[in-house]
Amino acid sequence: MISALIRFAFLVCLALIAAFITLYSWGPEYAILIAVALLSIPLIYSYINLARLGNYVQLDSVELMPLPSGFWEDIFFKLQRLIKTLKQRIRNIEQQHDHFIEAFQASPNGILMLDEDDQIEWCNSIAERFFGLVYKRDVMQRINFLIRRPEFIQYLNKRHFDESLLMERMGPSSNLSLMLQAFPFGNQRHLLLVQNITDLQKADAMRRDFVANVSHEMRTPITVLMGFLETVQSLDLEKSQRDQYFDMMMSQAQRMKSLVEDLLTLANLEANALPATTNEVNIVTLMALLRNDAEALSKGKHAFNFDVANTHNLYGDEREILSAFSNLVANAIRYTPDGGSIHVKWDINAQGRGEFSVRDTGPGIASEHLSRLTERFYRVDRSRSRDTGGTGLGLAIVKHIASRHQAQLNIESTPGRGSTFTLSFPQERLAP
Ligand SMILES: Nc1ncnc2c1ncn2[C@@H]1O[C@H](COP(=O)(O)OP(=O)(O)O)[C@@H](O)[C@H]1O
Ligand SMILES: [Mg+2]
Repeated sequence: MISALIRFAFLVCLALIAAFITLYSWGPEYAILIAVALLSIPLIYSYINLARLGNYVQLDSVELMPLPSGFWEDIFFKLQRLIKTLKQRIRNIEQQHDHFIEAFQASPNGILMLDEDDQIEWCNSIAERFFGLVYKRDVMQRINFLIRRPEFIQYLNKRHFDESLLMERMGPSSNLSLMLQAFPFGNQRHLLLVQNITDLQKADAMRRDFVANVSHEMRTPITVLMGFLETVQSLDLEKSQRDQYFDMMMSQAQRMKSLVEDLLTLANLEANALPATTNEVNIVTLMALLRNDAEALSKGKHAFNFDVANTHNLYGDEREILSAFSNLVANAIRYTPDGGSIHVKWDINAQGRGEFSVRDTGPGIASEHLSRLTERFYRVDRSRSRDTGGTGLGLAIVKHIASRHQAQLNIESTPGRGSTFTLSFPQERLAP
């Protein structure tokens, strides 16, 4: 600034000296002309530089302007530095803003930001899906105009935001349960967090059903057992009659034992670590074991065919594999009427997967039941299952063991013709 003033003073002195010299040599008119000409040099210089600056401002590229020399150089340099800093700061803020938006978008929860009048300032795509909103269309709309459920309007009006609100039958297919809570922030604003608790609720319902089912399954044999006990206690029975009652009591106790054993098997499967992929299960030995058990269970009432079409062993947990395979074989025996035949096979299929299959000539299963067979306690024919000593948990156990070995359970069945249950294991589970 000082150097610029010195330069300007120098120019004024120069103009005065030139004017004096001209005054004495050529007269006053020329002196004024020379002085004006000399003094207008800085004006023209300034005008040209300001015009250039105007052009760069219009193109929003002041920081790219080549610096002039002289008075404007310092000012333009500082201006350029200021603009560069401001632009960098804006870029940083924009980047930070984008990161925040990305993080909010990545959240599995719905997020809505409401201003002091409950107008939507921002929401993520999960919230759009939960409430059928379109952010671009609905931004700055009052939320109570868009989500018109009475319980929501009430929640919003009550303003007791330390409580949460459960909203059911929400989402595009009206099948979601949402838990929603508003959190105040900033100046009377609210952050609305919405969690999808559909799966949690389903798991809860399943747990309740399961407990109810187990209690029901236990109550029946206990009631029957107590009835027999009372009879034996109160009546003076003959030995043969009493033995008959004891047999019946034994069979009820056996039923409870099977149920408890299956429940424990399921609990163990849920609690245990995944089976190792290095433990080799010998298929030939396993098939021999299965055959022994099958013949004992069938008591010569069925024709068996055990076929080991290849001798690749299986990597997995021996006890679990045996439990899954024998459940399938036992089902075939229990549900196939006397005289039927059962074909058990270990093979490698066209895709290179290991397949264990059990084919029977039993009653078959209607297609509407197939998808539900692996549910706990699901039975096609309740009384037949109980009569044959079934607990309704066998296929649930099989499915669990299959998924622990990355295997798939496939069921094909034609009513009246028979069923084939196949467990197919991925190539990685096959020993060389
Ligand atoms: N081989 C089969 N043939 C016909 N029905 C079967 C067969 N295997 C299973 N099922 C049907 O699937 C139901 C569920 O099987 P499972 O889970 O093993 O329970 P359960 O203890 O009743 O045998 C059975 O109740 C039965 O109705
Ligand atoms: Mg069974």
